[in-house]
Amino acid sequence: MQAAQRILTIFGTRPEAIKLFPLVHALEGDSRFASRVCVTGQHRGMLDQVLAISGVVPDHDLAVMQPDQTLDALTARLLVGIGKVLDEERPDWVVVQGDTATAMAGALAAYYRKIPVCHVEAGLRSGNIHHPWPEEINRRIIGPIAALHCAPTETAARALRAETIDPATVHVTGNTVIDALFWITDRIAREPALAGGLAELERRFAGKRIIGVTSHRRENFGQGMQSIADAIRRIAVRPDIALIYPVHLNPNVRSVMDRELAGLDNVALIEPLDYPHFAHLIGMSHLMLTDSGGVQEEAPALGKPVLVMRETTERPEGVEAGTARLVGTDADAIVAETFRLLDDDAAYAAMARAHNPFGDGKSAARIAELLAR
Ligand code: UD1
Ligand code: UDP
Repeated sequence: MQAAQRILTIFGTRPEAIKLFPLVHALEGDSRFASRVCVTGQHRGMLDQVLAISGVVPDHDLAVMQPDQTLDALTARLLVGIGKVLDEERPDWVVVQGDTATAMAGALAAYYRKIPVCHVEAGLRSGNIHHPWPEEINRRIIGPIAALHCAPTETAARALRAETIDPATVHVTGNTVIDALFWITDRIAREPALAGGLAELERRFAGKRIIGVTSHRRENFGQGMQSIADAIRRIAVRPDIALIYPVHLNPNVRSVMDRELAGLDNVALIEPLDYPHFAHLIGMSHLMLTDSGGVQEEAPALGKPVLVMRETTERPEGVEAGTARLVGTDADAIVAETFRLLDDDAAYAAMARAHNPFGDGKSAARIAELLAR
């Protein structure tokens, strides 16, 4: 019998944890693999929320997060910390996801040791190195390093082939975020109390249409966040809506939102929600206003229009399918597009269509098969 392959899955932030727990579950349940998990702790509270609900128990926790961390110091801590874990574990494969500092440093540390890298959610490109910043460069660094590219869509696979990545190493697997979303909605169906914590807000805002909001992008710090806050204040003037905004723990986001939006009747600024509550929030929302990557994938799957507060997107599939629209961070544009969706039933109906351009919920199993080969 062949020895089990030693797979080290490395992640550090909330979205990576959400998109990798389905793969960790798949590897742990398969005797062809010896699964090990290293979390970098690039995020702390928001990462731990996902570990708790998914039941993933890390073998290593580097606890690198520092308040308001800079990209260079964070990257240095990550490279050194991950390197030590790789020397100890000596895995056959390293798995990284997406385009965070953790993913980039994980791939680079593996490359320094000639350990093959599997890149989950490979091939996303905006074509602009400043949007999103620094993620566009992080994922372009991982590209030539990875030996196995798990592209979520054909568009992503095409982008990799255009960069002269060996086509034999590029596979369209779908995005594991849809696996995670199906898993969590199934759990909520069996245990509704898992997402019951929004009941008080549901009572407070009864009869109003809910707009779910998230924002955190580094390229939007300063003027962009101020402009997003201005737009929310202007939208909140309407008596027929309410905004529920779980605020990212990044101090560059919280300071602006607390200053500009605290105390408004129609705005609930709340702590980051755990995954079941956030999935419930998307479900109860009329539309989502976001600069998040993951929310652009989840909202279409749940049939909710998304207005994307970014200048570019590396996820054109939602825009092409009509459920997502790029509005940028200009306050006038955000307000105008939001009001259009609230007041024009035909425009709303055209965007509110459940569909899954990003996956079918079986991506983790496909990636496990590729690793087994
Ligand atoms: C990071 C990723 C970004 C991803 C986002 C998801 C990088 C460079 N950025 O951005 O690609 O879209 O996560 O949310 O990899 N903080 C806490 N507790 C937490 C999380 C963050 O206090 O649980 C605060 C800390 O002060 C920390 C700061 O937020 O220093 C920034 O965290 P960091 O991971 O550097 O950047 P994000 O903006 O969260
Ligand atoms: N999310 C969550 N709680 C929240 C906000 C978001 O669980 O309060 C989830 C969301 O469902 C999605 C992921 O976090 O799966 C997106 O993370 P984020 O927006 O921080 O990062 P990005 O996807 O932009 O990298």
